[in-house]
Amino acid sequence: MKKILYSLLLVLAFGSSTQLDARPYDAAKVEQVLAQAHALYKDDKSGANADYIPALAKVDSERFAIAVVTVNGEVFTRGDINTRFSIQSISKVFTLALAMEQKGAEAIRDKIGVNATGLPFNSVAAIELNEARAVNPLVNAGAMATVSLIGGDKAEQKWQAISAWYEQFATTKLGVLEEVYSSESNSNGHNLAIAELLKSYGRFYGDVDINLDIYTRQCSVGVTTKELAMMASVLANGGTHPISGERLMSADNVERVLAVMTTAGLYETSGQWAYTVGLPAKSGVGGGIIAIMPGKFAIAAFSPRLDGAGNSVRAQKAIGYIADKAKANIFSHQD
Ligand code: DON
Repeated sequence: MKKILYSLLLVLAFGSSTQLDARPYDAAKVEQVLAQAHALYKDDKSGANADYIPALAKVDSERFAIAVVTVNGEVFTRGDINTRFSIQSISKVFTLALAMEQKGAEAIRDKIGVNATGLPFNSVAAIELNEARAVNPLVNAGAMATVSLIGGDKAEQKWQAISAWYEQFATTKLGVLEEVYSSESNSNGHNLAIAELLKSYGRFYGDVDINLDIYTRQCSVGVTTKELAMMASVLANGGTHPISGERLMSADNVERVLAVMTTAGLYETSGQWAYTVGLPAKSGVGGGIIAIMPGKFAIAAFSPRLDGAGNSVRAQKAIGYIADKAKANIFSHQD
């Protein structure tokens, strides 16, 4: 029954008249929507590459790619799909997922915080303004503290756990983009100050230098847009990987990760995003964004030019267009 309803929804969403069989998507329709999104925004040159990490300023601003992975494991792509870019803050979602699986949802709420700060991703003021020094795992402060919660006695052990975890989501080997990693490591004073500040308030749970370095490495992991959509598809599928069939997260933890993405995934413009698009999402200053339609599909888009909040301009527009065409909005009434 659930399967039939689900198929019906997909058919309605993409306007298909195909049979309700094992492949409920009308692939041609989905590909058409992706092509339209790409064509509509490919000439949009608004925004600018991040430049506070020098290596990001050098990335080709023209790159633009979109990928969708459904909960059935179907993959649809468009644009510069083989371009590898740094995952940046999108990594925060997956490290949060690992910390939640290891320590439980309450530990994240109590030791990090889960309310939106409403302030920029690297805000020091956000820590100072909150009496409990609570932030959330998707801003730099909370993300570094989340890394400090991950189990592992030695730095290398911890890094192995995080990178292996990402690879389970991506279903492929991933590596660090060394140029980005060294560029970010050499311009990391602001993050170091944030981590030290949290530590001084008893809200950082390990050695600052070690955990800052692991955080920087995780942000420098290279992904293609397709790999990113593949990673995000686990969140669309309630914690079970649509391709490997492996359960990576509990369904309860997926709900909580999606809640934080909804309130804080696009930083101070998260409210506006929820208001207009209505999908849990997460951006990175490398130009990637993931968005999740629970029970249906994940979208990833990549384009390096960012708006003032650090969110890719074309990726936001492309995802917004696809979500609209698919009538995908978590706040919509579902029969
Ligand atoms: O720590 C930083 O500033 C970067 N490694 C990540 C920031 C980021 O991606 C914010 N996202 N939009």
